[in-house]
Amino acid sequence: MTEKAENPLLEGLRMIRTPDPCALVIFGASGDLTQRKLIPALYSLAVRRLLPERFAVVGVARTEETTKEFVARMEEAVKANARDEFRKDVWDELAAGMRYVATDFANEGGEGNVAKVLASLDQERGTAGNHVYYFAVPPSAISTLIDQVAEHRTEKGWMRLVIEKPFGHDLASARELNAQLAKHFREDEIFRIDHYLGKETVQNMLALRFANGIFEPIWSRQFVDHVQITVAESIGIENRAAFYEQAGAIRDIFQNHLLQLVALTAMEPPIDFTADSVRNEKVKVLRAMHTPGPKSVVRGQYGRGFIEGVEVRGYREEEGVARDSMTETYVAAKLYVDNWRWADTPFYVRAGKRLARRETTIAIQFKNAPHPPFEETAAEGLRPNVLLVHVQPDEGVSLAIAAKVPGQGMMLRTVHMDFLYGGTFRTGIPEAYERLILDCMLGDATLFTRTDEVEEQWALVDAIVAPWSRERPGFPNYPAGSWGPPSADELLRRDGRAWRRHA
Ligand code: BG6
Repeated sequence: MTEKAENPLLEGLRMIRTPDPCALVIFGASGDLTQRKLIPALYSLAVRRLLPERFAVVGVARTEETTKEFVARMEEAVKANARDEFRKDVWDELAAGMRYVATDFANEGGEGNVAKVLASLDQERGTAGNHVYYFAVPPSAISTLIDQVAEHRTEKGWMRLVIEKPFGHDLASARELNAQLAKHFREDEIFRIDHYLGKETVQNMLALRFANGIFEPIWSRQFVDHVQITVAESIGIENRAAFYEQAGAIRDIFQNHLLQLVALTAMEPPIDFTADSVRNEKVKVLRAMHTPGPKSVVRGQYGRGFIEGVEVRGYREEEGVARDSMTETYVAAKLYVDNWRWADTPFYVRAGKRLARRETTIAIQFKNAPHPPFEETAAEGLRPNVLLVHVQPDEGVSLAIAAKVPGQGMMLRTVHMDFLYGGTFRTGIPEAYERLILDCMLGDATLFTRTDEVEEQWALVDAIVAPWSRERPGFPNYPAGSWGPPSADELLRRDGRAWRRHA
């Protein structure tokens, strides 16, 4: 038996290439993302032997600490946050290639120290001059860093940049950032992260749609009544007031994660699964979306309430939030994709903090059967067919269909055909960041957003928020632990529809 057949951790990894030797530089190494996501993701990749044999990590941040201290902190982070059990042998191997550089990257010249460490790692660890720069820093720091990193480009090896969101604050700032990047780097060197694209269940949308013959023919305005996409979180803003006050739900979730889910749901089949083919189709969807009028957008902000029986503060009472803040923590909208496939088919989308439950779903609701030959009473309580993609949690896909209730006569009820990841596959679901870091090292940008996509997304957001400064909705307008403001229900009720029921 081969090792792969024996080891369930390696299931499904047959076709994966190993990346070239390389060093990964993380700017913002003392931040939350590095500890919660990036280093644990690297560890999980190491457990599965997916990292290059010759590999190094350079953590860069302002905090004064030594490499030894940094490694010790990262070990704790892995123990606390990785999805795999801690194995000392795996960790020691990864940690041997770790270095820490304390530098203020806002100061010109800080990058010089990093360049020196990289040069010595190329010698010591054989990383061959291949460097990934991961920018896990606030947008204000990115601009200075880009120029510095570009200045230290060497002739040897390849160079790639991973840029965390938020990518700009509006269309103008995103364009500026894109222009600055384009001055020094080619598009195929730039990896703009939207971690939703790294989620297995989001990628499964492509498998579901394009690897099955039965869905595509009915995936259109002819058969689909409408689509509902929900990105609900029960958590609040978690010590991120400074960021969130500027962003709100529309910039934090709608501009990126939600619009990407719309694009993947609505896109045409790409001719192949290469970065440009997939992104060409997604960008067409974004371009085809017209700006929803003010009546088709709902803003909300949470007040006090209860989450799982525990009383929680309202948004305006959170630390660092202005007492009269007008930042939205909820946004819902009715969107249209104006093309032949989707004309007149509403895409109702919503995202919010402090909602009743964490749940990301894409629901394709089909039209009613045209002429059910049953008595009306037989079908009481029957719901239309819905294909429900559970992005998280309880990852899976479920199809709601009508079935006859056993017994005399003809009584009908909605039942579900379910596919659950947990029950089907032996392997756990990888974290989005594992897939994305690996793809970047492999030079595959399919699951990253391209310049034109980011700009289209911002253009839509800019148009939506333009009238917001003139109107002041009565915030807070939904209690924590609810499903959002009543006006969001009204948005669908006006069309004779309702948000999907929550089990
Ligand atoms: C981030 C947002 O992009 O996504 C956070 O900034 C949000 O506010 C998070 O909590 C949600 O990600 P996930 O993977 O938990 O759904």
